Amino acid sequence: MLSSSTSPLHLALCCVTLLSLHFCAAVPTSKVGFGYRLVSIEQNRNGGGLIGHLQLKQRTSAYGPDIPHLRLFVKHETQDRLRVHITDAEEGRWEVPYNLLPREQPPPLGSKASRSPSTASEYAGDQLIFSYTSDPFTFAVKRKANGQTLFDSSCGTIVFKDQYLEISTHLPKTASLYGLGENTQPGGIRLRPSDPYTLYTTDISAINLNSDLYGSHPVYMDLRNEGGEAAAHAVLLLNSNGMDVLYTGTALTYKVIGGVLDFYFFPGPSPLAVVDQYTALIGRPAPMPYWALGFHQCRWGYKNLSVVEGVVEGYKKARIPLDVIWNDDDHMDAAKDFTLDPVNYPRPKLLDFLSRIHSQGMKYIVLIDPGIAVNSSYGVYQRGMAKDVFIKYEGKPYLAQVWPGPVYFPDYLNPNGVAWWVDEISRFHELVPVDGLWIDMNEASNFCTGRCELPVNHSCPVPGSKTPWICCLDCKNITNTRWDDPPYKINASGSQAPLGSKTIATSATHYGGILEYNAHSLYGFSQAIATHEALQGLQGKRPFILSRSTFVGSGAYAAHWTGDNKGNWVNLRYSISTVLNFGLFGMPMVGSDICGFYPAPTEELCNRWIQLGAFYPFSRDHANFASPRQELYVWDSVAKSARNALGMRYKLLPYLYTLNYEAHTSGAPMARPVFFSFPNFTASYGLSTQFLLGSSVMVSPVLNKAKTKVKAMFPPGTWYNLFDMTKAVISKDERYITLDAPLNEINVHVYQNTILPMQRGGMISKEARATPFTLIVSFPFGAAEGDARGSVYVDDDERPEMKLVDGEASCIEFYASLREKTTVTVWSQVEMGRFSLQKGLLIEKVRVLGVQGSGQALVIEVDGEPSADGSGAYLAETSPMHQEKVEGGNSRSSTVVEVAGLSLPLGKKFSMTWKMGING
Ligand code: GLC
Repeated sequence: MLSSSTSPLHLALCCVTLLSLHFCAAVPTSKVGFGYRLVSIEQNRNGGGLIGHLQLKQRTSAYGPDIPHLRLFVKHETQDRLRVHITDAEEGRWEVPYNLLPREQPPPLGSKASRSPSTASEYAGDQLIFSYTSDPFTFAVKRKANGQTLFDSSCGTIVFKDQYLEISTHLPKTASLYGLGENTQPGGIRLRPSDPYTLYTTDISAINLNSDLYGSHPVYMDLRNEGGEAAAHAVLLLNSNGMDVLYTGTALTYKVIGGVLDFYFFPGPSPLAVVDQYTALIGRPAPMPYWALGFHQCRWGYKNLSVVEGVVEGYKKARIPLDVIWNDDDHMDAAKDFTLDPVNYPRPKLLDFLSRIHSQGMKYIVLIDPGIAVNSSYGVYQRGMAKDVFIKYEGKPYLAQVWPGPVYFPDYLNPNGVAWWVDEISRFHELVPVDGLWIDMNEASNFCTGRCELPVNHSCPVPGSKTPWICCLDCKNITNTRWDDPPYKINASGSQAPLGSKTIATSATHYGGILEYNAHSLYGFSQAIATHEALQGLQGKRPFILSRSTFVGSGAYAAHWTGDNKGNWVNLRYSISTVLNFGLFGMPMVGSDICGFYPAPTEELCNRWIQLGAFYPFSRDHANFASPRQELYVWDSVAKSARNALGMRYKLLPYLYTLNYEAHTSGAPMARPVFFSFPNFTASYGLSTQFLLGSSVMVSPVLNKAKTKVKAMFPPGTWYNLFDMTKAVISKDERYITLDAPLNEINVHVYQNTILPMQRGGMISKEARATPFTLIVSFPFGAAEGDARGSVYVDDDERPEMKLVDGEASCIEFYASLREKTTVTVWSQVEMGRFSLQKGLLIEKVRVLGVQGSGQALVIEVDGEPSADGSGAYLAETSPMHQEKVEGGNSRSSTVVEVAGLSLPLGKKFSMTWKMGING
């Protein structure tokens, strides 16, 4: 609804505008444009929203001529999503393709605007208000509930040229921002004013700080705590062109080299609501198969199958859990996708190996790169050529070089390209029944730059070369087009490198003439979609794909790892921020190469890394061929830590799998910044050395050399040590607490008020998932009253869909209460219990933390009847609880009470209650 300009809100808007103009002194003022005037605005009769017409105020020439007329489209698309879309009013422009990222289309261009605008006006949705000024045209987005301004473009000038778009927003100093990646952020998760944020998918390794890395996610979350009440929102600029985002602390300016201004605003106000709203637009995170939450071992340089067999054996011998064994490109014949090296990976032997590991429940994943070797005797190439599926340059396939030597890149924007890719994967699956695919080098990475030809004087690849990443084609730089040499240079590779540097030339074309210039950052995303289609159709199972390059929406298809990191202590620390960022990007299944990709890690580093890595959502050890072997059993101390930390992971698998379900249904990250659960705990806004798994499991790793203590911060309340539940941290404020962290131990705590479903664990997830459950119930330490809850989701994970369907999945909610210090009740509610009953899943123990005294008079009911299943049950008191040293805290003790000897079917609702007799 349009409201009149004389409303009280209008007055408020004027104040805000004045205020932001004042702050705008901090914003670099644009010298490249004078902005636009809003000349008309009306309601869009078909489909809702507002349509406006903007006219250029004054021409400029820097970065090219301005586009004279713009079309503004604004719509509250849902209760909690506002879209502001600005494009050329006269000609269509490049946008992220609607078939790749399905979403509402703005109305076609050419709709007439008839009504004259008032000087300032508003358009309100359920949660957000869009307001604007006419001359110059500026817009703001406010929260309806309290008028808080979330975005305000009045502090900059809107510039709209063919190859340069600029828009700014004012930000209050109280705003903490997160996101805008992918980059490695030495300063932690909170964006730092003046650090560069450049988005353009690039294969420069993750050791490069504050640079445009493999993925592009132009979205940020803004968390503010004004007046003691935290509120978060997010802003997405849906645009696939390269961009610099400048953040000064009081303003943020986008400088984008193409496309349109397509903003989406998500009001939150909780961080979890933000990711829910965000992933409702971009696609919910892909459900992961159960086994994918187990531990993965990989290495570039498993020279032959016996080495791989030895690795699997090594894990078994060392009693370290392992679910998935990977091959990098070593299994391939001369690095060609979808082939097998006949000497080192002979097919019969490989099939025999796979049938052995598959029968145990283990899985096998291999790498593929997008570059297809140019080789006329190679079937994949021949069929690709016949179907004309490769990206073109001047009408011919664009020649590049990757591991196999000269390659062409498939065009996944081409429907024929997708069909060919799906077919190639299906053929490969006939050859080798892999369980998932790893799509690497898909930024796309090219060892050469520009326009290349096969050399005439030497062979390429150079036979026996130890440096296959050195370009051996004959190449010339391309600088003669405005796509290869655009007027505004983003800070690509941290050095304003040409856009086509070490990738596909930006003047190359995709299907339908789409310029690589525009589609560049979509390459990995489009490959993930095609690969997902292939695996889903093929196995009829839930696909597992790991992709290096990602874009907005990739999480609906793939998992991610943080790329080539270094085996050193700072990279161990950086991994946390990148992992947490990907949770915000809707890609919760993420982890870093454990122990580092290269060079050799020290034993101590690898030891600490597996302790942290055991709690990454995606937990994989991977290394470069030039590093010495770093499987977890190589060093005794690392093996010990691995047994300890992965042992805990495998006990927590039902919790992780439930988080996977939550991620898939609501976008909730599996690994979360602490402020997700404690948004008012402002001390945690920059906390990047600890994180939460789900809402209440805190991971506090050692990130420094030669340390056996760790300083950790805990939001107020009781946190129980998961490895020794008789220990607790009782936190009262934001001070750091020093915890013991001996060489083989990591601190993992569960918060009060939680019911954590755990199982016995095991060497492989297939075994672990069949074992009986223990419910950990945590009350506030020594409190008279308390409530706790938790849940578990179980299914068979074979179906592509992860949905609560009767007979195929079950969801069980757990509740507990403590009343008057004495009465403890624990009960469940079951949704669709049939699946769980069929699987025979049982609860064997309930362990209650934080109560005092000893338990008596246990009563158990199942499905409302006194329980026969509970007849063997007894109450047991374990050792008195010790409180960890807490600065300013008093030492108190309480008991861990266990109800043991149970055999309660998980799929039936139960209730149990008993009295605590107060000792002494
Ligand atoms: C890239 C990947 C790395 C892989 C290597 C060889 O560098 O990031 O993980 O081992 O290529 O395929």
